Amino acid sequence: VLSYVWYCFAESYVLDDKVGLGRQFDGIGGLSGGGATSRLLVNYAEPYRSQILDYLFKPNFGASLQILKVEIGGDAQTTDGTEPSHMHYENDENYFRGYEWWLMREAKKRNPNITLIGLPWAFPGWVGHGKNWPYDFPDITVYYVVSWIIGAKQYHDLDIDYIGIWNERKFDSTYIKVLRDALDKVGLTSIGIIAADGDWSISSAMAVDPYLNDAIEVIGIIITYTYLYQLSFFFFPAINGKLLRYTLDKSGLERVKIIASDNLWQPISLFILLDPELRNAVEVIGAHYPGTHTVVDALKTEKKLWSSEDYSTYNNDVGGGCWARILNQNYVNGRMTATISWNLIASYYEQLSFGRNGLMTAEEPWSGNYVVESPIWITAHTTQFSQPGWTYLQTVGHLSQGGSYVALTDGKGNLTVIIETMTHDHSICIRPPLPHFNVSSQNTTFQLKGSFRSLSVLQVWQSKFDFKTKNPTFFKQLSPLKISDGTFTLNLETDEVYTLTTITTGKKGSHPVPPASTPFPKTYKDDFNVRNPHFTEAPDFADQTGVFEYYINLTDSGPHVFTLRQVVTQRPVTWASDADQTISIIGDHSWRNLTVTCDVYIEMGKTGGLFIAARVDKGGESVRNAKGVFYWVYADGTYKVTNDIGGQTVLADGLSGTRAGVWHTLTLTIKGQYASGMLDGYPLWKNAVVLGPQNGWAAIGTQTFELAQFDNFVIEAE
Ligand code: GAL
Ligand code: CA
Repeated sequence: VLSYVWYCFAESYVLDDKVGLGRQFDGIGGLSGGGATSRLLVNYAEPYRSQILDYLFKPNFGASLQILKVEIGGDAQTTDGTEPSHMHYENDENYFRGYEWWLMREAKKRNPNITLIGLPWAFPGWVGHGKNWPYDFPDITVYYVVSWIIGAKQYHDLDIDYIGIWNERKFDSTYIKVLRDALDKVGLTSIGIIAADGDWSISSAMAVDPYLNDAIEVIGIIITYTYLYQLSFFFFPAINGKLLRYTLDKSGLERVKIIASDNLWQPISLFILLDPELRNAVEVIGAHYPGTHTVVDALKTEKKLWSSEDYSTYNNDVGGGCWARILNQNYVNGRMTATISWNLIASYYEQLSFGRNGLMTAEEPWSGNYVVESPIWITAHTTQFSQPGWTYLQTVGHLSQGGSYVALTDGKGNLTVIIETMTHDHSICIRPPLPHFNVSSQNTTFQLKGSFRSLSVLQVWQSKFDFKTKNPTFFKQLSPLKISDGTFTLNLETDEVYTLTTITTGKKGSHPVPPASTPFPKTYKDDFNVRNPHFTEAPDFADQTGVFEYYINLTDSGPHVFTLRQVVTQRPVTWASDADQTISIIGDHSWRNLTVTCDVYIEMGKTGGLFIAARVDKGGESVRNAKGVFYWVYADGTYKVTNDIGGQTVLADGLSGTRAGVWHTLTLTIKGQYASGMLDGYPLWKNAVVLGPQNGWAAIGTQTFELAQFDNFVIEAE
């Protein structure tokens, strides 16, 4: 009888702010990096690139993300490639490398309130003084990380809000305290402003404006120098210079908060409970892939709890279901007030590790094709209707027939309720394993109490996954719900997401359908002749060990002034198993028969060496075990052809007469089971037998962490 009553009447849930509120909501975010996950995005032509950024960041358009977390590049492999450091060497600083700065600026442009987070995965070798460990010299590591925060402000006017320790590796309490201390002490008064313009006209402005004159330290002019050129965007006209000076003088870095430890809940929670100084230093406990649960010690710390990395699931509709379930249940079960998706956008070759594990997909800059996947619209259910600073109600929880609901308020009468009824099999995430649970359709009644008692209408947004007929609808606005007597009823099916809200600004944004998907072009050429590149990396090359940058070779009198150069000269403090060689891959993983040609220049005398390659089968965390056909030449006048990057399996070798400090042209041709190579236009070796791999990317690289240059790279694939 009891169960009969149970099913007949709708289960009733109360939404009330008068019983006290829950925790403050800190936002939903995406993670670029860890690593190189946005690599291909930067090479999209306009208008597609801006359209993609709109779907991610533009408020009331798509995902409308509230947090952007980026990797602080450490010159090392961090899942899908390497990201360049702002300090390759001890005496080197450059805040225009890679694309994370650009991405943060684009995000801020669209949403000035977006929260910015930086986290290192790896560090340049000098930070560890030759050891694979960043904590022996905490002052050096702190200097390295704080420089990045200051560089963000100085060169890009970006305020970093949170800084992390070392992704998914051990933390060190001393290091965290030294970092906190440094942030509290460093003012930005010491930063000088460089103002650059085309014709020195800022000098006359400075002559008549003493404040401007005080504000600016150096006058630059656009010559051929990329970085000054880019600076001019930010620091001119004059008003920007004065405003910037004002902000720099006023702001210390006290406002930058520390997240620890981007790993598990323990042992950081226990350490915080036992060490009052550490407790003061840390603002947020960030755990990865928490499976929506936390631990008692974490709750006891009374710190903010975040799922500071989560998701990492193939972005089909089950991926969308995973995201819907954890966005709600990370709070309901684990009191987490922010969830950050690894990754922000799948913009890397799909055959690398964790292909398409992003909120959307943009992996074809050559075609312009991109796909707005379901996680984008699932994110919108929360982000378009609640902002960081809003507060969860205490009345959140599970639904009696499975699923969950959360409710948030701005404290000024606004209410947003998000409901999900994702079934087990349609919401599995990559990790941790998901224990079995049941969800079935159900009638629900919600009773509004407290400030919400008098609401008469709520906007309704719905997503229906519809795994049966494969005809889902995402983020659709339904007609508003009339509320009588503070009560409303909803019939919930399985695999649905609803938002009920007083907020009326929600929008399902759209841009014209992007171009169709095409494979990587079979004929590809790059002479690297770019005087003022917008990015330090050449299009579509995806560095897997080492860092390859545009280079201006001012001493070259001939045709090789503009080249691509491998610049990492020491093994980094690694996060993954980087190869002992450096390598950058490019092209189509399904390529089988092709010719790769490249001009190459060994810089390191005697022991230097480099290669061009094809059919390279692996990158990412497996890069050490990459197989393919690698054609090497060495400064000692020899060559080799090997089947693997490690050089264990030799297919051919002999004399080449190659030297350091001389440009040579290498040509590698593979057809079926046979490979042949030319040097400077003459055949050097032929009919090397290639039993595998059957296909893979083209690549360039060096024998060790050494300087070397590449020019006039050409692929002809069949
Ligand atoms: C995380 C890591 C990311 C990425 C991801 C893949 O543990 O922090 O960089 O590797 O796993 O699932
Ligand atoms: Ca060139």
